Amino acid sequence: MFVCICNNVTDGQIRQAMREHDLCSLREVREHLGVGAQCGRCARCARQVIAGELERRAQVELRHSVPIAVAA
Ligand code: FES
Repeated sequence: MFVCICNNVTDGQIRQAMREHDLCSLREVREHLGVGAQCGRCARCARQVIAGELERRAQVELRHSVPIAVAA
C-alpha cells in the first residue's frame, strides 16, 4: 500500500527501512525515505505503520527475553 504518494513510498518500504537502519520515529523515516517531507498528508498513516512496526519489534524482544528468576 502506498503511504506517501509524493515520494512513492509504501508501508513495506517503511518497515524494511526501519529494520535495516534501526529507525524508530517519523523524523528518522523522513530522513531516510522522504516520507512526509512534501505535503505532509501521509504523516498520520506513516505514524500508524511505524507504531505497528515498533509493536512487532517489542513483541519479538519480549519473546526472546530471558525470564527473571523470582526469589522465594
Ligand atoms: S503524501 Fe507524503 S509528503 Fe505528500
